[in-house]
Amino acid sequence: MKDPNSQYTLITGASTGLGKAFALECAHRKMNLVLSALPNENLEDLTRQLRQNHGIKVFYKETDLTNRVAVEEFAQWATSNFSINILINNAGIGGTQHFIDSTTTYLDDMIQLNIRAMTLLTRLLLPSLKQQTPAHILNVSSLAAFSPVPYKTIYPASKAFIHHFSRGLEAELQDTNVRVSVLNPGPIMTNSDVCKRIDAQSSYVKLSIMTPEQVAQIALKKMLRGKSVIIPGLMNRINAFFIRLVPVNFRIFVGTQIFKRENRKTRNYEGTRNRSKQPAWKQPDQKAAASRLQG
Ligand SMILES: NC(=O)c1ccc[n+]([C@@H]2O[C@H](COP(=O)([O-])OP(=O)(O)OC[C@H]3O[C@@H](n4cnc5c(N)ncnc54)[C@H](OP(=O)(O)O)[C@@H]3O)[C@@H](O)[C@H]2O)c1
Repeated sequence: MKDPNSQYTLITGASTGLGKAFALECAHRKMNLVLSALPNENLEDLTRQLRQNHGIKVFYKETDLTNRVAVEEFAQWATSNFSINILINNAGIGGTQHFIDSTTTYLDDMIQLNIRAMTLLTRLLLPSLKQQTPAHILNVSSLAAFSPVPYKTIYPASKAFIHHFSRGLEAELQDTNVRVSVLNPGPIMTNSDVCKRIDAQSSYVKLSIMTPEQVAQIALKKMLRGKSVIIPGLMNRINAFFIRLVPVNFRIFVGTQIFKRENRKTRNYEGTRNRSKQPAWKQPDQKAAASRLQG
Protein backbone atom coordinates (compact mmCIF):
# COMPACT_ATOMS: atom_id res chain seq x y z
CA MET A 1 0.00 0.00 0.00
CA LYS A 2 2.89 2.40 0.77
CA ASP A 3 3.45 4.73 -2.18
CA PRO A 4 7.05 6.06 -2.12
CA ASN A 5 6.08 8.89 -4.50
CA SER A 6 3.52 10.46 -2.14
CA GLN A 7 4.71 12.27 0.96
CA TYR A 8 2.39 12.82 3.94
CA THR A 9 2.10 15.24 6.84
CA LEU A 10 1.01 13.59 10.09
CA ILE A 11 -0.99 15.82 12.48
CA THR A 12 -2.03 14.76 16.00
CA GLY A 13 -5.13 16.33 17.59
CA ALA A 14 -6.47 17.16 14.12
CA SER A 15 -10.22 16.96 14.86
CA THR A 16 -10.60 20.50 16.17
CA GLY A 17 -8.88 23.75 17.20
CA LEU A 18 -5.33 24.37 16.07
CA GLY A 19 -4.88 20.80 14.77
CA LYS A 20 -7.86 21.17 12.41
CA ALA A 21 -6.54 24.57 11.27
CA PHE A 22 -3.20 22.88 10.48
CA ALA A 23 -5.04 20.22 8.46
CA LEU A 24 -6.93 22.89 6.44
CA GLU A 25 -3.79 24.96 5.86
CA CYS A 26 -1.87 21.87 4.68
CA ALA A 27 -4.78 20.96 2.40
CA HIS A 28 -4.67 24.46 0.84
CA ARG A 29 -1.02 23.76 0.12
CA LYS A 30 -1.95 20.41 -1.48
CA MET A 31 -0.09 18.40 1.17
CA ASN A 32 -1.34 14.81 1.72
CA LEU A 33 -2.42 14.11 5.29
CA VAL A 34 -2.51 11.48 8.02
CA LEU A 35 -4.73 12.69 10.87
CA SER A 36 -5.32 11.48 14.41
CA ALA A 37 -7.56 12.38 17.37
CA LEU A 38 -9.63 10.61 20.00
CA PRO A 39 -12.47 8.34 18.73
CA ASN A 40 -15.84 9.79 17.63
CA GLU A 41 -14.65 13.36 17.00
CA ASN A 42 -15.65 13.70 13.33
CA LEU A 43 -12.27 12.82 11.84
CA GLU A 44 -14.10 10.74 9.23
CA ASP A 45 -16.15 13.77 8.09
CA LEU A 46 -13.11 16.03 8.06
CA THR A 47 -11.17 13.46 6.02
CA ARG A 48 -13.98 13.20 3.45
CA GLN A 49 -14.29 17.00 3.16
CA LEU A 50 -10.56 17.48 2.70
CA ARG A 51 -10.40 14.79 0.01
CA GLN A 52 -13.38 16.23 -1.86
CA ASN A 53 -12.51 19.92 -1.58
CA HIS A 54 -8.76 19.75 -2.13
CA GLY A 55 -8.11 16.61 -4.20
CA ILE A 56 -5.43 15.39 -1.79
CA LYS A 57 -4.87 12.00 -0.15
CA VAL A 58 -6.10 11.95 3.46
CA PHE A 59 -6.17 9.05 5.94
CA TYR A 60 -7.03 9.02 9.62
CA LYS A 61 -6.77 6.90 12.75
CA GLU A 62 -8.67 7.45 15.98
CA THR A 63 -6.39 6.77 18.89
CA ASP A 64 -5.87 7.76 22.52
CA LEU A 65 -2.32 9.04 22.73
CA THR A 66 -2.27 8.90 26.55
CA ASN A 67 -1.96 5.13 26.11
CA ARG A 68 1.65 4.10 25.41
CA VAL A 69 0.75 0.93 23.49
CA ALA A 70 -1.67 2.95 21.34
CA VAL A 71 1.10 5.46 20.55
CA GLU A 72 3.42 2.65 19.45
CA GLU A 73 0.71 0.97 17.35
CA PHE A 74 -0.22 4.29 15.76
CA ALA A 75 3.41 5.01 14.84
CA GLN A 76 3.79 1.50 13.42
CA TRP A 77 0.61 1.91 11.31
CA ALA A 78 1.69 5.35 10.06
CA THR A 79 5.26 4.43 9.14
CA SER A 80 4.39 1.15 7.45
CA ASN A 81 1.63 2.67 5.29
CA PHE A 82 2.83 6.20 4.47
CA SER A 83 6.00 8.10 3.58
CA ILE A 84 5.77 10.71 6.32
CA ASN A 85 7.95 13.78 5.74
CA ILE A 86 6.31 16.16 8.24
CA LEU A 87 5.26 15.38 11.81
CA ILE A 88 3.14 17.95 13.65
CA ASN A 89 2.88 17.07 17.36
CA ASN A 90 -0.13 19.25 18.17
CA ALA A 91 -2.35 17.20 20.54
CA GLY A 92 -2.19 18.63 24.04
CA ILE A 93 -4.36 19.42 27.03
CA GLY A 94 -4.21 22.04 29.78
CA GLY A 95 -6.29 23.84 32.34
CA THR A 96 -6.30 26.19 35.35
CA GLN A 97 -6.99 24.98 38.88
CA HIS A 98 -5.47 24.51 42.32
CA PHE A 99 -2.98 21.64 42.15
CA ILE A 100 -4.55 20.04 45.22
CA ASP A 101 -7.94 19.95 43.48
CA SER A 102 -6.55 18.13 40.42
CA THR A 103 -7.37 14.45 40.10
CA THR A 104 -4.42 12.17 39.51
CA THR A 105 -6.01 11.07 36.21
CA TYR A 106 -6.10 14.69 35.01
CA LEU A 107 -2.43 15.19 35.94
CA ASP A 108 -1.34 11.88 34.49
CA ASP A 109 -3.21 12.43 31.18
CA MET A 110 -1.55 15.81 30.74
CA ILE A 111 1.92 14.37 31.30
CA GLN A 112 1.29 11.32 29.08
CA LEU A 113 -0.17 13.35 26.21
CA ASN A 114 1.88 16.55 26.30
CA ILE A 115 5.23 14.92 27.10
CA ARG A 116 5.31 11.16 26.54
CA ALA A 117 3.24 10.89 23.34
CA MET A 118 5.13 13.79 21.72
CA THR A 119 8.52 12.28 22.65
CA LEU A 120 7.70 8.71 21.58
CA LEU A 121 6.06 9.73 18.31
CA THR A 122 9.10 11.84 17.44
CA ARG A 123 11.44 8.93 18.23
CA LEU A 124 9.36 6.34 16.37
CA LEU A 125 8.88 8.48 13.26
CA LEU A 126 12.42 9.83 13.03
CA PRO A 127 13.86 6.89 10.99
CA SER A 128 11.10 7.41 8.39
CA LEU A 129 11.53 11.18 8.40
CA LYS A 130 15.25 10.73 7.73
CA GLN A 131 14.39 8.90 4.50
CA GLN A 132 12.42 11.91 3.18
CA THR A 133 13.55 15.26 1.81
CA PRO A 134 12.62 17.81 2.98
CA ALA A 135 11.58 16.56 6.42
CA HIS A 136 10.22 18.57 9.35
CA ILE A 137 9.06 18.10 12.93
CA LEU A 138 6.83 20.82 14.39
CA ASN A 139 6.17 20.55 18.13
CA VAL A 140 3.40 22.68 19.61
CA SER A 141 4.52 24.30 22.86
CA SER A 142 3.12 27.57 24.25
CA LEU A 143 4.12 31.01 25.49
CA ALA A 144 3.50 29.43 28.90
CA ALA A 145 6.76 27.49 28.38
CA PHE A 146 8.75 30.62 29.28
CA SER A 147 7.71 30.84 32.93
CA PRO A 148 6.45 28.81 35.89
CA VAL A 149 2.71 29.52 36.19
CA PRO A 150 0.77 29.09 39.47
CA TYR A 151 -2.60 27.35 39.09
CA LYS A 152 -1.39 25.80 35.83
CA THR A 153 1.78 24.15 37.23
CA ILE A 154 1.96 20.97 35.07
CA TYR A 155 0.89 22.64 31.80
CA PRO A 156 3.71 25.23 31.53
CA ALA A 157 6.17 22.62 32.81
CA SER A 158 5.08 20.22 30.04
CA LYS A 159 5.35 23.01 27.45
CA ALA A 160 8.84 23.93 28.74
CA PHE A 161 9.77 20.26 28.24
CA ILE A 162 8.53 20.44 24.63
CA HIS A 163 10.46 23.68 24.03
CA HIS A 164 13.78 22.42 25.44
CA PHE A 165 13.38 18.98 23.86
CA SER A 166 12.80 20.56 20.44
CA ARG A 167 15.76 22.95 20.68
CA GLY A 168 18.07 20.13 21.76
CA LEU A 169 16.88 17.79 19.02
CA GLU A 170 17.17 20.52 16.39
CA ALA A 171 20.87 20.93 17.26
CA GLU A 172 21.41 17.14 17.37
CA LEU A 173 19.89 16.72 13.89
CA GLN A 174 21.67 19.70 12.36
CA ASP A 175 23.71 17.54 9.97
CA THR A 176 20.68 15.59 8.77
CA ASN A 177 17.80 16.42 6.42
CA VAL A 178 15.34 16.76 9.36
CA ARG A 179 14.57 20.25 10.68
CA VAL A 180 12.89 20.67 14.08
CA SER A 181 10.71 23.69 14.90
CA VAL A 182 8.91 24.56 18.11
CA LEU A 183 5.76 26.70 18.09
CA ASN A 184 5.12 28.96 21.12
CA PRO A 185 1.71 30.57 20.58
CA GLY A 186 -0.13 32.87 22.99
CA PRO A 187 -3.90 32.60 23.52
CA ILE A 188 -5.80 31.06 20.59
CA MET A 189 -9.59 30.98 20.33
CA THR A 190 -10.09 27.23 19.88
CA ASN A 191 -12.62 25.13 21.82
CA SER A 192 -15.37 26.72 23.94
CA ASP A 193 -13.57 25.92 27.19
CA VAL A 194 -10.37 27.66 26.11
CA CYS A 195 -12.47 30.64 24.92
CA LYS A 196 -14.14 30.80 28.35
CA ARG A 197 -10.75 30.91 30.06
CA ILE A 198 -9.40 33.53 27.65
CA ASP A 199 -12.57 35.63 28.22
CA ALA A 200 -11.76 35.68 31.93
CA GLN A 201 -8.39 37.34 31.22
CA SER A 202 -7.48 41.05 31.37
CA SER A 203 -7.78 43.39 28.35
CA TYR A 204 -3.97 43.34 27.98
CA VAL A 205 -3.86 39.54 27.61
CA LYS A 206 -6.73 39.75 25.12
CA LEU A 207 -4.62 41.99 22.85
CA SER A 208 -2.54 38.96 21.90
CA ILE A 209 -5.44 36.63 20.98
CA MET A 210 -5.14 34.95 17.57
CA THR A 211 -7.35 32.62 15.56
CA PRO A 212 -6.26 29.01 14.96
CA GLU A 213 -6.15 29.77 11.22
CA GLN A 214 -3.71 32.69 11.70
CA VAL A 215 -1.44 30.59 13.92
CA ALA A 216 -1.48 27.57 11.60
CA GLN A 217 -0.70 29.70 8.54
CA ILE A 218 2.26 31.47 10.17
CA ALA A 219 3.57 28.27 11.79
CA LEU A 220 3.52 26.23 8.57
CA LYS A 221 5.18 28.98 6.54
CA LYS A 222 7.98 29.41 9.08
CA MET A 223 8.39 25.66 9.67
CA LEU A 224 8.85 25.09 5.91
CA ARG A 225 11.57 27.79 5.97
CA GLY A 226 13.31 25.84 8.76
CA LYS A 227 12.79 28.36 11.58
CA SER A 228 13.67 26.81 14.97
CA VAL A 229 11.42 28.88 17.29
CA ILE A 230 8.11 30.22 16.01
CA ILE A 231 6.24 32.81 18.12
CA PRO A 232 3.25 33.95 16.06
CA GLY A 233 1.98 37.56 16.35
CA LEU A 234 3.78 40.79 17.29
CA MET A 235 2.16 41.05 20.75
CA ASN A 236 3.23 37.50 21.58
CA ARG A 237 6.81 38.21 20.48
CA ILE A 238 6.85 41.34 22.67
CA ASN A 239 5.40 39.35 25.60
CA ALA A 240 7.92 36.54 25.10
CA PHE A 241 10.76 39.09 25.10
CA PHE A 242 9.64 40.71 28.38
CA ILE A 243 8.75 37.39 30.07
CA ARG A 244 12.31 36.20 29.55
CA LEU A 245 13.79 39.56 30.51
CA VAL A 246 12.23 40.01 33.96
CA PRO A 247 13.35 38.02 37.06
CA VAL A 248 11.52 34.74 37.59
CA ASN A 249 10.02 35.83 40.94
CA PHE A 250 8.35 38.78 39.22
CA ARG A 251 6.99 36.48 36.48
CA ILE A 252 5.54 34.21 39.16
CA PHE A 253 3.98 37.21 40.95
CA VAL A 254 2.31 38.47 37.75
CA GLY A 255 1.23 34.91 36.82
CA THR A 256 -0.36 34.49 40.24
CA GLN A 257 -2.51 37.61 39.73
CA ILE A 258 -3.52 36.63 36.18
CA PHE A 259 -4.43 33.01 36.86
CA LYS A 260 -5.99 33.60 40.29
CA ARG A 261 -8.41 35.85 38.44
CA GLU A 262 -8.99 33.28 35.66
CA ASN A 263 -9.42 30.50 38.21
CA ARG A 264 -12.00 32.54 40.14
CA LYS A 265 -13.95 33.46 37.02
CA THR A 266 -13.99 29.98 35.48
CA ARG A 267 -14.60 28.18 38.80
CA ASN A 268 -11.82 25.65 38.62
CA TYR A 269 -12.59 24.48 35.13
CA GLU A 270 -10.72 21.20 34.60
CA GLY A 271 -8.81 20.69 31.36
CA THR A 272 -9.20 22.06 27.84
CA ARG A 273 -11.42 19.15 26.90
CA ASN A 274 -14.51 17.59 28.33
CA ARG A 275 -13.25 14.74 30.49
CA SER A 276 -16.48 12.78 29.93
CA LYS A 277 -15.02 12.04 26.50
CA GLN A 278 -12.44 9.83 28.16
CA PRO A 279 -12.20 6.58 26.19
CA ALA A 280 -14.05 3.55 27.50
CA TRP A 281 -10.86 1.49 27.96
CA LYS A 282 -9.88 3.78 30.82
CA GLN A 283 -12.97 3.28 32.89
CA PRO A 284 -12.41 -0.35 34.03
CA ASP A 285 -8.76 0.47 34.78
CA GLN A 286 -9.80 3.34 37.01
CA LYS A 287 -12.38 1.20 38.74
CA ALA A 288 -9.85 -1.59 39.19
CA ALA A 289 -7.25 0.84 40.55
CA ALA A 290 -9.81 2.31 42.93
CA SER A 291 -10.90 -1.10 44.17
CA ARG A 292 -7.27 -2.18 44.62
CA LEU A 293 -6.69 0.90 46.76
CA GLN A 294 -9.85 0.30 48.76
CA GLY A 295 -8.93 -3.38 49.20
N1 LIG B 1 -5.74 27.32 22.67
C1 LIG B 1 -4.73 28.01 23.19
O1 LIG B 1 -4.91 29.13 23.71
C2 LIG B 1 -3.34 27.46 23.11
C3 LIG B 1 -2.26 28.30 23.40
C4 LIG B 1 -0.96 27.80 23.33
C5 LIG B 1 -0.75 26.48 22.96
N2 LIG B 1 -1.81 25.67 22.68
C6 LIG B 1 -1.53 24.27 22.32
O2 LIG B 1 -2.06 24.02 21.03
C7 LIG B 1 -2.40 22.62 20.92
C8 LIG B 1 -3.84 22.51 20.43
O3 LIG B 1 -4.68 23.16 21.38
P1 LIG B 1 -6.21 23.51 21.07
O4 LIG B 1 -6.55 24.71 21.87
O5 LIG B 1 -6.46 23.46 19.61
O6 LIG B 1 -6.90 22.27 21.81
P2 LIG B 1 -8.25 21.49 21.49
O7 LIG B 1 -9.20 22.32 20.71
O8 LIG B 1 -8.70 20.94 22.80
O9 LIG B 1 -7.73 20.31 20.60
C9 LIG B 1 -6.86 19.35 21.14
C10 LIG B 1 -6.72 18.23 20.17
O10 LIG B 1 -5.99 17.20 20.83
C11 LIG B 1 -6.73 16.00 20.77
N3 LIG B 1 -6.58 15.18 21.96
C12 LIG B 1 -6.92 15.50 23.24
N4 LIG B 1 -6.67 14.46 24.04
C13 LIG B 1 -6.18 13.46 23.25
C14 LIG B 1 -5.74 12.14 23.48
N5 LIG B 1 -5.76 11.61 24.70
N6 LIG B 1 -5.30 11.41 22.43
C15 LIG B 1 -5.29 11.91 21.19
N7 LIG B 1 -5.67 13.18 20.88
C16 LIG B 1 -6.12 13.93 21.91
C17 LIG B 1 -8.17 16.44 20.68
O11 LIG B 1 -8.89 15.38 20.10
P3 LIG B 1 -10.47 15.21 20.41
O12 LIG B 1 -11.16 16.34 19.70
O13 LIG B 1 -10.72 13.89 19.84
O14 LIG B 1 -10.63 15.29 21.91
C18 LIG B 1 -8.06 17.64 19.77
O15 LIG B 1 -8.02 17.25 18.43
C19 LIG B 1 -2.19 22.03 22.31
O16 LIG B 1 -0.94 21.38 22.36
C20 LIG B 1 -2.20 23.26 23.22
O17 LIG B 1 -1.48 23.05 24.40
C21 LIG B 1 -3.10 26.13 22.74
